[in-house]
Amino acid sequence: MSEHSQFLEMNLDGRKSTYVLGPLAGLELGRFVPLGPPLYIIDQTVASMHPEWIEQIQTNCAHCEQRTLLLPGGEKIKSLAQLGEIYDWLSQQNLPRDGSLVAIGGGTVLDLAGLAASTWRRGVNFVSIPTTLLAMVDAAIGGKTAINAAGIKNPVGTFYPASGVLADVGFLSTLTRSDWRDGMAELIKSAAIGNAELFAEIHAARQDLEKTLGQGDVHQPIAGILGKFPWRRWVQQAAEVKVDLVNRDFREKGPRKSLNLGHTLGHVLEAYSQRTKQPLSHGQAVSIGMAVVFRIAAERNLCPVPQALQMLGVLESCGLPISCQAPPLNLMDELLAGDKKTSARDGLSWVLPERIGKMKINARVQQDELLRWLEAPPLF
Ligand SMILES: NC(=O)c1ccc[n+]([C@@H]2O[C@H](COP(=O)([O-])OP(=O)(O)OC[C@H]3O[C@@H](n4cnc5c(N)ncnc54)[C@H](O)[C@@H]3O)[C@@H](O)[C@H]2O)c1
Repeated sequence: MSEHSQFLEMNLDGRKSTYVLGPLAGLELGRFVPLGPPLYIIDQTVASMHPEWIEQIQTNCAHCEQRTLLLPGGEKIKSLAQLGEIYDWLSQQNLPRDGSLVAIGGGTVLDLAGLAASTWRRGVNFVSIPTTLLAMVDAAIGGKTAINAAGIKNPVGTFYPASGVLADVGFLSTLTRSDWRDGMAELIKSAAIGNAELFAEIHAARQDLEKTLGQGDVHQPIAGILGKFPWRRWVQQAAEVKVDLVNRDFREKGPRKSLNLGHTLGHVLEAYSQRTKQPLSHGQAVSIGMAVVFRIAAERNLCPVPQALQMLGVLESCGLPISCQAPPLNLMDELLAGDKKTSARDGLSWVLPERIGKMKINARVQQDELLRWLEAPPLF
């Protein structure tokens, strides 16, 4: 066990899941692959940008044989067609019931590969190695897997935790500015939900964040960014918020719902935007979703206005959008009705902030409130 890594333990529906964070986290892979050799599904960008590190992870894992499927990252791979191709490949490779599937990539690769792992032969051992900020603080934790279908975001999926999540911040050196921004949306979310000190620290760093993330070419990596902010600690603290919530409520019956802050509207905007010429990324859509619910909560006097302004300010400093044109009303209703957070018993439930660090779950939001604040001017 590396002394350079931190270990966060989860017990999810009786399944043990360990989050390992550190520069050598990938070298722990062998501990989570009891019977080998594993199969690998790897984001092809990551494979091309970090070939030596990937090779080291694979060869260090006791089983040297490497059978790898490369996939492009991005929302489009979260499809039934792509899942079918993975099943074909798993069949060709003859992955047995007691075999292991290892996914290396961002949230899209992990969501898709996790779903494949959870359903192939009714569930094989799954290990994930997140390579984006968003995946390290959110997508890799808590065992939700998903693909998109029927024009809706994530309606098909399973609860199936990875036995190991191996997070190494070093992978982030090659992220583009837009991927950093997306990751910040989920990092800010976790801080707002469960770590007010972390939120205050990020808010205090907003001028530096603005210079580093808020400006510049969104398609390029950011030179020297790993040394500019305490990423490892920020990832750890954000991961701890999610680890705590999923440990208490794996099946999302109560407290875990707070992680949907910004997501009810965010998923609708993301799904709708896929039909347009300007698709929003997941992080951008969540950012707008959070900005809108903070404005609604402030207008209702549920959340103090200064805190809502802090949230808007911090999102903007990271170059994230806080408003957009509303989708056509009929489509918005349709997509909201199709959102997976609609339950027969509770209807569509929203997360509204009471303050930074405290969320109200199962809240109701009216359409006129949404429309008023979705297209709102940047600040009150
Ligand atoms: N399962 C969950 O609980 C959960 C939670 C939050 C988000 N998600 C899902 O996560 C997805 C978004 O994840 P994402 O933002 O990581 O997107 P992504 O997987 O599309 O990755 C973003 C881009 O970064 C590239 N990339 C990945 N690692 C890289 C690296 N180290 N260097 C350079 N480029 C790299 C990818 O190829 C891709 O182009 C969404 O589909 C969302 O629904 C899931």
